[in-house]
Amino acid sequence: MAVVSKISMSKAQFTKLAQVIYDRSGIHFPETKQYILESRLSHRLNELEMTDFDQYIAYLTMGPYQMDEFQEMFNRITINETSFFRNDAQLAVFEHQILPELLDARSGTKRLRIWSAACSTGEEPFTIAMLLHRTLGVRLADWNIEILGTDISEKALAVAQGGVYNSYAVRSTSDLIKNRYFKENGRNFELSESIRSMVNFERHNLKDRMSAKRHGIWDIIFCRNVLIYFDDPMKKGVISMFADQLANDGTLFIGHSERIKDLTTDFQQLSIPQGFCYQKPAHIAAA
Ligand SMILES: C[S@@+](CC[C@H](N)C(=O)[O-])C[C@H]1O[C@@H](n2cnc3c(N)ncnc32)[C@H](O)[C@@H]1O
Repeated sequence: MAVVSKISMSKAQFTKLAQVIYDRSGIHFPETKQYILESRLSHRLNELEMTDFDQYIAYLTMGPYQMDEFQEMFNRITINETSFFRNDAQLAVFEHQILPELLDARSGTKRLRIWSAACSTGEEPFTIAMLLHRTLGVRLADWNIEILGTDISEKALAVAQGGVYNSYAVRSTSDLIKNRYFKENGRNFELSESIRSMVNFERHNLKDRMSAKRHGIWDIIFCRNVLIYFDDPMKKGVISMFADQLANDGTLFIGHSERIKDLTTDFQQLSIPQGFCYQKPAHIAAA
């Protein structure tokens, strides 16, 4: 294994790099998180045979490989923590309250569109697919269900597309679900084709409103545990983009530690304990 020589970052270099990252992705690195950039990117500088962060910032912002290098950097600096059935109580609200109402409302078209935004390595959209699979059972064949998982990190999406996970990813998954939807292979858990085929993945940056528009209107949007990495202006932008892309009777799910109440009038929190879900105000929903 290559030995990584740590390269130290000055305050000025940190400020410049943090601004570049923010401009591109909305991810806000406060000064207290300088060590994360320093340690995660030292390895990259070693690979590029650079000895100084000024060189790296120039390479990132002015060189011919800018686009590729941004991707490479996001692969390294994003925090991709996730798991199957993360926050079970919230998923129960989705499965037992929101989903039945929505299936009823869409019983005419039998079309349902769900976006898992910032899905990391795919556990979240695959969990949603399992919940739909067990709710609809044989009726699934009658429905046109679209589940899209997106993330800024191509490395995370490559794992999702592989559909093979370790035991850490299924730490909150019941044996019943594991037996039904996974094949245990040594230390790995391979997802069944029936679930894999229900989800598509695509790279998407939550700053990119035009690309979100291109995907049309969603019935449900999950965007959990990513708003915490954004500052208020970025959060506001993302929430307003979700308001544009969510059906008037749709539902937005965010992470349990995230709050958007003071940042938007487009959404109201539902009074379902543990739901952490939002819908458009009644006058809009009824329109
Ligand atoms: C902690 S994970 C959350 C995964 C999943 N939603 C969950 O709750 O388990 C946060 C994800 O947000 C992604 N992310 C960060 N900034 C993003 C942006 N601007 N656009 C899209 N994804 C972003 C990261 O790559 C990371 O995979």
